[in-house]
Amino acid sequence: MGKGIIETYKKFLPINSKTPVFSLGEGNTPLVKSRNIVDEIGCKSLLFKLEGCNPTGSFKDRGMVVAVAKAVEKGISSIACASTGNTSASAAAYGAYLGLRTTLIVPKGNVARGKLAQAVAYGAHIAMIDGNFDKALEITRELCKRHPVELVNSLNPNRIEGQKTASFEIVEELGMAPDDLFIPVGNAGNITAYWKGFKEAFESGLSDNLPVMNGYQASGAAPIVDGAIVEEPRTVASAIRIGNPASWELALKARDESNGFIDKVNDDEILSTYRRLASDEGIFCEPASAASLAGLLKRVNSGESFEGKTIVCVITGNGLKDPDIANEIKPVSLNEYPAQIESVEEALSLS
Ligand code: F0G
Repeated sequence: MGKGIIETYKKFLPINSKTPVFSLGEGNTPLVKSRNIVDEIGCKSLLFKLEGCNPTGSFKDRGMVVAVAKAVEKGISSIACASTGNTSASAAAYGAYLGLRTTLIVPKGNVARGKLAQAVAYGAHIAMIDGNFDKALEITRELCKRHPVELVNSLNPNRIEGQKTASFEIVEELGMAPDDLFIPVGNAGNITAYWKGFKEAFESGLSDNLPVMNGYQASGAAPIVDGAIVEEPRTVASAIRIGNPASWELALKARDESNGFIDKVNDDEILSTYRRLASDEGIFCEPASAASLAGLLKRVNSGESFEGKTIVCVITGNGLKDPDIANEIKPVSLNEYPAQIESVEEALSLS
């Protein structure tokens, strides 16, 4: 383990003798058991797949390593993507590792601070546009048509191939697919990839079952749920602030083939779950990542029973990505003291 996903899952990926094999340590992420929230759900077991433990702090690294390897195989030295932040951080990291020119087209004012800082540090060329993610993606697709530049958004099938490996890891660890998978949905690449992975695990005999796929969008950015493009998507969860998902149809297919659901959770539900994941389970994720568990809690609160079920919630990105939202959490206790033991002792008091 720890070899990276190209080496580990070669036979499931579009890898041939000419494909460079490398890794920044992506994949093999923890599947952590809930200790506290599980009781409220009333299921057999609740697990969190911590994708924030990937090298750039989000699940994007799984697909990016394959997309970049295939670009290098083709002799391409320039990559580009549109992004709400995580795809761009990941592209910039792998671009830096391989010595590629990385161009990022991002919506101005809509990328969390940690993500932008990563892209800058990795040395990417960043174009901020006066428009949302959907516009940025439209421009990036056109740029890649006009120039010898590889598009590394999830429209690139190699991204989906890499991302599907998260399903293999879950199946290997549980010895089966979960009964239900809960996952945030933005551009809808990840739900597409997980479903592909679970189907391939099933077809190749790694699992005897398939999960029900439960995707969650944010209420102000829920085109799939509402059945219409959202011109001005709004949500506190900037990662999934997307009004016209590229993999819309494939997300519907994952939902329908798995007898699943795609629904929405509002910002209050996202933020309260985001805080609870940290304070009740020790899992600090970014707001968008909390949409998976927020969706499950919403279903439980509306009376649905998950008795006997094994449930996995995908936690897509690390909490440090979005320090501005994190700074809005009210501290349990955060006071200043003189630098003396007697004064600081007060901090131990229960009052
Ligand atoms: N969670 C996080 C932390 C994300 O960054 C994203 C997407 C999603 C969930 C949704 O995944 O788009 O495959 O449905 N981020 C993209 C980006 C759009 O540009 O980083 P999806």
